[in-house]
Amino acid sequence: MKYIQAEYANGILVLKLNRPEKKNALTQNMYLRLALALEDANHDDNIRAILLQGTSATFTSGNDIQDFADDGSETEKRASERFMQAVTQLDKPLVAGVCGHAIGIGATVLLHCDYVVVSEDARIRFPFIDLGLCPEFASTMLLPLTVGRAKANEWMLIGATVLADEALRAGMVNQVLPNDQVLDDARRVACVLAKKPHDALVQTRRLLKSAQREFVAARIDAERQVFRTLRDSEDAQRIFRDFLSRVR
Ligand code: COA
Repeated sequence: MKYIQAEYANGILVLKLNRPEKKNALTQNMYLRLALALEDANHDDNIRAILLQGTSATFTSGNDIQDFADDGSETEKRASERFMQAVTQLDKPLVAGVCGHAIGIGATVLLHCDYVVVSEDARIRFPFIDLGLCPEFASTMLLPLTVGRAKANEWMLIGATVLADEALRAGMVNQVLPNDQVLDDARRVACVLAKKPHDALVQTRRLLKSAQREFVAARIDAERQVFRTLRDSEDAQRIFRDFLSRVR
């Protein structure tokens, strides 16, 4: 699929978001591709690390807002939820290479990554409230745990744009680099991880995540209930329409 490019080499699976004309906004189809690739990677002994990246201009502008507007009364498990589950159940190290915008799920997915490299011009944003929504992907739990209550409130309630250096200082990302070095460096980190004794790495990673695993799953469920109600509300649907009909 042209919007999700998957390539494998030397023990590393690279998943690249590639829909630049829409700032890599994620459709349900794109989530499904990502989820399937992660599910397969979990059972593939050849894959020892995964790199999730966008282009050198944008990581992702988050969920496709047209999809939010179209969702209406769907009840079946959505591909975005399958993607979240695939990430949280992943048993291999996940590295993110982030240039430019990381918005919505582009921000919340970083809280699940094992190592995050961002560009100096990265702009991280949790825009959920301004869209009439609530945050997802257990970020209402993981963000305060990661960066502290004060920053989490500023970033989620006010919706402040988080610049790269602030994200680094707050402990949300590992490294800030010039834009043209980010994707290469993220690949280098994935390569380092892929060469580690794999069982030791997998077991250590499980231990690092074990204290929060069941709480993460429960929080994703709780957020989903609220999210769906809000998404279908008149307020949110009006905000989506306004965004989509904006003259640029
Ligand atoms: N869903 C759907 N379309 C999106 C999108 C999204 N999340 N983000 C960007 N696009 C589309 C725009 O509608 C525009 O489409 P058009 O060319 O057909 O008009 C195109 O991508 C380019 O976006 P534009 O807004 O013109 O680029 P920009 O450089 O001025 O701004 C952003 C980039 C990312 C800051 C801005 O597009 C934005 O705020 N997007 C929405 C982010 C968001 O709220 N995401 C939801 C997270 S839950």
